[in-house]
Amino acid sequence: MFQNIFLATIICLATALAQSAQSAQSGRSAFVEMGCHHCHGYEGQGALPTGPRLAPEPMPFEVFSNIVRRPPNVMPAYSAEVLSDEKLKRIHEFLESIPEPPDVASIPVFAEKQ
Ligand code: HEC
Repeated sequence: MFQNIFLATIICLATALAQSAQSAQSGRSAFVEMGCHHCHGYEGQGALPTGPRLAPEPMPFEVFSNIVRRPPNVMPAYSAEVLSDEKLKRIHEFLESIPEPPDVASIPVFAEKQ
């Protein structure tokens, strides 16, 4: 009995992880298809002259969505006809999936210099 519950829990967790990886992957495709990477970089890291950093730790979806629909300054606006809410959610999930960069001290070439 306990073994069955344990097995079912593992299967549910594995399915949830696989779905979230799949969703992040399709969000990455949408991010590139919509051209976000041109100004914000492939990892949402941003670049001073073109667009701010979007990841890791993107802003909450509601704020994110408001800015993409009505950007404050020079970013082009993406209407729901061009970029659906569903696709925008996947882009946000992709940005949420991006991990923090490693600590500089953990990169051997920099650690040697310190
Ligand atoms: C042509 C360049 C360009 C493209 C393409 C672009 N952005 Fe931007 N984005 C900017 C700039 C510049 C800003 C800073 C605000 C402004 O000037 O409108 C910005 C701001 C943002 C912000 C607010 C970030 C903050 O910290 O204030 C979000 C979120 C965002 N963009 C998401 C996106 C998404 C998602 C896409 C693709 C669907 C996208 N952007 C495509 C240039 C771009």
